[in-house]
Amino acid sequence: MHLARRTQAERHRAEAMFQSVFDHADECIVSSDDRGTILLFNHAAETTFGYAASETIGQNIRILMPEPDRSQCDTYIANFIRTGQPGILGIDREVVACRKDGSTFPAELEVSQFFADERRHFIGIVRDVTARRQIEEQLRRAQRMESIGRMAGGIAHDFNNLLTPILGYADILRSRLTEEDPAQEEIEEIRRAADRAAGLTRQMLAFGRRQVMRPKVLDINTAVLGMKNLLSTTLGEDIDLMFNLDRHLWKTMIDPTQIEQVLLNLALNARDAMPAGGKLTIETSNENLDAEYAQNHVSVSPGPYVALVVSDTGFGMDDQTLAHIFEPFFTLKKERGTGLGLASVYGIVKQSGGYIWVYSEPQKGATFKLYFPRTEEEGVVSETAVSDRPKRTTGTETVLLVEDNQAVRGFVARVLSAAGYTVLQASIPREALDLSGHYRGPIHLVVCDVILPDMNGRDLSNKLLASRPALKVLFMSGFTENVIVYRGVLNRGVEFLEKPFTPTTLLQRVRELLDRPGQTA
Ligand SMILES: Nc1ncnc2c1ncn2[C@@H]1O[C@H](COP(=O)(O)OP(=O)(O)OP(=O)(O)O)[C@@H](O)[C@H]1O
Ligand SMILES: [Mg+2]
Repeated sequence: MHLARRTQAERHRAEAMFQSVFDHADECIVSSDDRGTILLFNHAAETTFGYAASETIGQNIRILMPEPDRSQCDTYIANFIRTGQPGILGIDREVVACRKDGSTFPAELEVSQFFADERRHFIGIVRDVTARRQIEEQLRRAQRMESIGRMAGGIAHDFNNLLTPILGYADILRSRLTEEDPAQEEIEEIRRAADRAAGLTRQMLAFGRRQVMRPKVLDINTAVLGMKNLLSTTLGEDIDLMFNLDRHLWKTMIDPTQIEQVLLNLALNARDAMPAGGKLTIETSNENLDAEYAQNHVSVSPGPYVALVVSDTGFGMDDQTLAHIFEPFFTLKKERGTGLGLASVYGIVKQSGGYIWVYSEPQKGATFKLYFPRTEEEGVVSETAVSDRPKRTTGTETVLLVEDNQAVRGFVARVLSAAGYTVLQASIPREALDLSGHYRGPIHLVVCDVILPDMNGRDLSNKLLASRPALKVLFMSGFTENVIVYRGVLNRGVEFLEKPFTPTTLLQRVRELLDRPGQTA
């Protein structure tokens, strides 16, 4: 008697223990008999599927599956029992599961079997993998954008090398002709086309995050309000422009011209999405992105951000469109759009260390949410000197020109020689070092491409400076490599000429640098 009571108490305890384990498991556990009738349904399963356990026990497990599995469920089980093929056992399978409200979700399912009371039973462990799939999808997209970005940056680099001589020689030709020369018009057409190509290249560079940034400590509100007039003109009379700006907005570190580019692109798209008029709202606020937010958004670092939200009441977008809008050359505007607007917005935001998200549904408008990291720095950061341009653009100094692209080298050499400079030319770093070693006279300036074979421009200039400490250095590139920029920001003291450039800009920058009092690098 006494012994029997004890075993009963123990059995109770064992059962309670089992129940606890069963109910506190993170995974959904569902057990059924050999006909698929549900016998056990744990707490996690209740939460995930939206059924109370009491609603499912006695029902067939097919209620947890969407069609076509639902109708096939009996056949699956019967086949398994008949053939013994372990098709449904032991393996982690990816399935689609169905909640009580009829909605479905991706799940991982693991089925095992056991025998009790001489009957076969099944245990299914179900894991909802919706969140994981979303993160994976975000990651895939981010990687895709990364690789398209690299490609766009590369193309832009080559294009800038091509555009430099096109624009440059067009300028030289024009200056040779009199104002009345009929060829002026054709040259103007060449220039116009090349200028437009340079504009597209700039946008591709922006997307590829290769733009040179000149970030400043900025109150985004100031930038927004500064564009008020331009924006309302752009939007036209039928679109209302509303602001909702946080008056205590944190500061952020961003290139003011780039934030303007961002706002303008977003406003233009909003205008196009509201042909019959509507409302564009620009909001700013301070936001702390916490660890949980970062976990659900790929590549977000938690911390304080300034949010800039631009929403319209236009025709919106479907999921298919949303999946591609930041890709370069994706446009639904036929020949009216280049599809580079949002691509450059994306690049600028990323290059500034920020994030961009978009929310939209067809006929429900669109909201673009941009986050820029808060900066603790105060005041205006010293700008790379954009001093008054010198009047004189000629000179007699000696310039060492290092550029591996023959067309660009030829053009630069020609412009500099025509202005009176002595030009020593090298196509690769080794040649430049040789020249510098053997040349008897002084070399005042080296004009040097950033990306060169064998050695980058920065290392080359350091080598040259070792033997000629008074040498001044002007880098040129169509492309901001980490060699002279860090995350798109120019290293201190670096002089940089963006390709493509015109003869005038080249001569001005050269003169400016030569006239500047000597500095220790
Ligand atoms: N606010 C919006 N509402 C609805 N659709 C939009 C909105 N913004 C962008 N889109 C869609 O995304 C596409 C890509 O936009 P993006 O700005 O990159 O290129 P585009 O406007 O077509 O051309 P571009 O800006 O180079 O002139 C657009 O063609 C449009 O279909
Ligand atoms: Mg656009």
